[in-house]
Amino acid sequence: MILKGPLAVIGGGRMGEAIIGGLLAAGSFDRASIVVAEPDPVRRAALTESHGVRCVAEGREAVAGAATVLLAVKPQILGSVVDALADAVPSDAVVVSIAAGISTTRIESMLAAGAAVVRVMPNTPALVRQGMAVVSGGVAATTEDVEAVRDLFGAVGQTIVIDECLQDAATAISGSGPAYVAILVEELTRAGVAHGLSPEVAQGLAVQTLRGTAELLDRTGQHPADLVRAVSSPGGTTVAAIEQLESGGFRTSIGSAVAAAVTRAKELGST
Ligand SMILES: NC(=O)c1ccc[n+]([C@@H]2O[C@H](COP(=O)([O-])OP(=O)(O)OC[C@H]3O[C@@H](n4cnc5c(N)ncnc54)[C@H](OP(=O)(O)O)[C@@H]3O)[C@@H](O)[C@H]2O)c1
Repeated sequence: MILKGPLAVIGGGRMGEAIIGGLLAAGSFDRASIVVAEPDPVRRAALTESHGVRCVAEGREAVAGAATVLLAVKPQILGSVVDALADAVPSDAVVVSIAAGISTTRIESMLAAGAAVVRVMPNTPALVRQGMAVVSGGVAATTEDVEAVRDLFGAVGQTIVIDECLQDAATAISGSGPAYVAILVEELTRAGVAHGLSPEVAQGLAVQTLRGTAELLDRTGQHPADLVRAVSSPGGTTVAAIEQLESGGFRTSIGSAVAAAVTRAKELGST
């Protein structure tokens, strides 16, 4: 591993915390080498209590001396946040942005000339080291910088390097994807309860079924359509259920949801 500390995390929200929690659980970083900038004093206290990391109110204080700066604030405020700390970022630091929709070109334009910027779309399962991080380097980022960022996120899940023009598509699948999957679990649980199961049992069945199906597809490399066929005996329960899913527009809804997320990512990038 070629992880570079100290690490400054700008934004101690859900994603910032998921990454910090995963990195500490993986033993990739020492607590003392992570500093978080977070304006909310209640969040600062909570992060220090849960993860033992130092938290400060100001981004400029966090980035001083950092080897890696992780920008984990909302895309809508990224510009003002980076403007406020840009001149305090060490010239040799690698700046990593996880902001949906914001290009490396735009972030480079806010920083000193030649700054190494790497864009990443992670996801919240990073918290349990099962994340998926999609990585693209900016013009000044070297192969070593990109690999270092891959190592950083590799500690909390899988990583893949893709052309930056595909980042919005990846965002719509793996960045937002945990929410789609959680809706599926929520609705399976609700339906199970409606048919007499306890909420705990219904959710347990749904979660383990998702986990097992994901593992099966991953390990066998089986096409999802083949798995559907394997479970669908003629005249059986699965076929009865799938008929309802098809007539309710389940498949087209997934396509429309992903298209809406791609569109929104592009809007965020152009604001
Ligand atoms: N959530 C996801 O699943 C996910 C997945 C992939 C990528 N992302 C990306 O991750 C980024 C963060 O998303 P999130 O869901 O973690 O949002 P979030 O929970 O709102 O976290 C953002 C944090 O940044 C803090 N903040 C605001 N102004 C700041 C400043 N000037 N300096 C330092 N911190 C500041 C916010 O504090 P206040 O609340 O006090 O304003 C908040 O705690 C976004 O760009 C998003 O596109 C998120």
